[in-house]
Amino acid sequence: MRPIVIAANWKMNTTPADAGELARTIASRTRVPGVTRVICPPYVSLAAVRDALSGEDVGVGAQNIHHELAGAFTGEISALMLDGLATWVILGHSERRAYFNETDSLVGRKLDRAVDAGLRPILCVGEVLADRESGRQTGIVDSQLRGALEGRDPVALAAAGLVIAYEPVWAIGTGRNASGADAAAMADAIRAALRPLGWGGTAEATPVLYGGSVTSTNIGDFLGEPAIDGALIGGASLKPDEMAGIAARAGLTAAARGLAT
Ligand code: 13P
Repeated sequence: MRPIVIAANWKMNTTPADAGELARTIASRTRVPGVTRVICPPYVSLAAVRDALSGEDVGVGAQNIHHELAGAFTGEISALMLDGLATWVILGHSERRAYFNETDSLVGRKLDRAVDAGLRPILCVGEVLADRESGRQTGIVDSQLRGALEGRDPVALAAAGLVIAYEPVWAIGTGRNASGADAAAMADAIRAALRPLGWGGTAEATPVLYGGSVTSTNIGDFLGEPAIDGALIGGASLKPDEMAGIAARAGLTAAARGLAT
């Protein structure tokens, strides 16, 4: 049974002085049986968020790692450095692909480092608007997955708890979300892309999240789709009221899927 995951990507927001309180508030308002919660603050706020969440069943994640474990890479953070700070990591976010030139093969190397360090990866894929408008979305996502996953051991990645987030770039931060049906079709396409990479039945067991302008108002469109297993949330994840609404809706899906005990 796939989990229901609600993951907050705070991006480049919050400071160590305010992140802990925000995390604590969100945690206290999102306690819902059967829902896996993750908060991904900026690196410098990881310790504050970890401390604030002590005793709460909320995962802490980083938003990126370097593709090497150590070395002369000024300003970078490696998977090993997250020991004791984070247990999840977002990889291949479209903002990293667009602004920091991350390629599929680089994202693949980062996945290796995450697995080495025991971090649970959330691998992001998604097409830009021009690709959606010309009907190329499935091919784009297929090639992103192939570029990052081909030649990598599905068993190791599944054991690391790999989660895939479908985040259409045109829906991120735009207020223009995909429809539930479109997101579900892409979740199906993602699992179909995994199968020829040797994933077999593991593809069906891999959680697929939707991300892109998710709010408490539209979350039901996505969680009403059996192929979708949660959300990766940007802007709304900084708002406790929004997160409370999103988690409450996720709890309904968790209960319907028999996850809430
Ligand atoms: P928004 O929810 O702000 O559109 O961001 C989505 C996202 O990029 C999450 O990783």
